[in-house]
Amino acid sequence: MLSEHPHGLAFSDALMREVKARFLHVDHDHHGRERLYFDNAGGSFRLKAALERFAQVDAIPDNAERIHATAVELQDIQARGCADLRTILNATGGSVYASLTASGAMFDMVRAIAENVPGTNMVTTVLEHPSAFDAMSLYAQRLGRELRVARSNPVTGGVDVEEIVRLVDKDTCLLNVIYASNISGAKLDMEEIVRRARAIKPDLYIVVDAVQHAPHGLIDLQKTPVDGINLAPYKFFGCRGSGLTWVSDRAALLPHHKLAAKKPDYWDLGSSAPWQFAVLTEIVDYVCWLGANFSDATDRRALFVAGITHIELHERALLALLLDGNPNVTGMREMRGVEVFLDHEDLTRRDLILGIGFEHIDCTQAVVAYGKRGVTVYERVATSLYSKRMLESFGLAGTVRVSPLHCNSVADIEKFLRITQEIATDRG
Ligand SMILES: Cc1ncc(COP(=O)(O)O)c(C=O)c1O
Repeated sequence: MLSEHPHGLAFSDALMREVKARFLHVDHDHHGRERLYFDNAGGSFRLKAALERFAQVDAIPDNAERIHATAVELQDIQARGCADLRTILNATGGSVYASLTASGAMFDMVRAIAENVPGTNMVTTVLEHPSAFDAMSLYAQRLGRELRVARSNPVTGGVDVEEIVRLVDKDTCLLNVIYASNISGAKLDMEEIVRRARAIKPDLYIVVDAVQHAPHGLIDLQKTPVDGINLAPYKFFGCRGSGLTWVSDRAALLPHHKLAAKKPDYWDLGSSAPWQFAVLTEIVDYVCWLGANFSDATDRRALFVAGITHIELHERALLALLLDGNPNVTGMREMRGVEVFLDHEDLTRRDLILGIGFEHIDCTQAVVAYGKRGVTVYERVATSLYSKRMLESFGLAGTVRVSPLHCNSVADIEKFLRITQEIATDRG
C-alpha cells in the first residue's frame, strides 16, 4: 500500500473535513485568529476527545491503588492504555511506564542498560535529540565506555545503515538510534539496522527514540525487535506532561529506580496519573476510527495500521505538494529565493518535516515574516542546544522547520506556498 503511492494519497474532501473537526485550533488559534500552525514537530494539534477525556479522568480524586470500584476503574484505564501502547508498537510482553517527559524516560532506559550490561563501547548517531545523545554521553563517561557516534548523510538527511553497523561490535553495550530525524524528517531504516547490528552481536541491547516518527508512520516491533522505545503524546495528538515507554522483558528486569517492594519489572515510580493512559487510548481510538474509513478489519491493531498508513499517505501527498506544487501554485523546489535543504528525492523515506532557507533573509527573520502573515514555523539555528550538533553534521547554519500534520489540507499547503513565495520576493 505505502509503496504503491510514492507521492502519497490525499484524504477525500469529506474525510478531511471530518478529520479537522476532531482537532482543536487547526484553522484558528486559541484567540480565534486565523492561523496556519506548521510546528507540529514541537507540539501537535490536540484531539478534542483527548482533552475531554483528560479532564474527565483527572477530575476523579481517587487513588488507583485501592480496592474500591472507582480505583478498579482507574486501574482498568491504565491497563487499557498499556495495551494500546502495545497496539501502536505491535509489541508483546515487556513493561510499559509513564513519565512526565520522553526525555526522562530515555535517561532511565539508558541508565539501566548502561549500568548493567557489559561492554566497552556505546553506539549512537549524531542526529539524536539531546535526551538520547546526552544520556549516552553521560553514562559512557561515567562508566568509562567509548561513545561511538554515527555520522549523518547530507543527501538523505538521515544516517546510513552501514555507518551505524560499522561502529557496532561484540563489545557494544547499547545501540541507541532515533527512528526519524526531527530536523530533516528522514526515517532511518530500522529493520535493517536491527537485523544487521544483531548479526554482529545477537544479544545487543537497542533503544529507539520514536518521539518524532510515531505520529507519522507505522512501527512494528515484531519486525524490529528492540529493547526500549518511547513516544511523547503531546506530539501525537494528545497532551503535554506525558511520555510513554515500552521496555522488553529482559530490559524491564534490569536494576532500575523503583520502590523495592514492587515487582522486578515495574518501572512506574510514584503514583501514576491515569489520564496519561486514558489519553493514549483516545489517540489509538482516533487512528482506528480513521482506519475504519479504509478497512473492514475489526482487530484493533489492524485498524490502527490502516489509520496510520493513511496518515502517512496523506502527509506524503502534502510533502509532494510542498516540494513540487500543483497547477495552482509553485512548489518550493521551483521557487526562486527559496532553498529546500536535505531534499531527498524518495518521499517514502521521509516524514512530513521540511527544512528551508531564504536567499535574502535569515531563518529568524523568515519566522517573523511568516508570523506576520499568520503562519507559525520554527527556526532551527546552530546556536540552539536542540539543533547545533545535527545542523553542523549537515554543514547547515540554520533552517526554517516546516512541520504540518495530517489535519492540514491541500488548500492549507497551497496557502502556505503562496505566503512563502511572497516572503521570498518581498524586498521591503
Ligand atoms: C525526537 C525527539 N525525541 C525526544 C524529545 C523529548 O521529548 P520531551 O519533550 O517529552 O522530553 C523530543 C522533543 O522535542 C524529540 O523531538
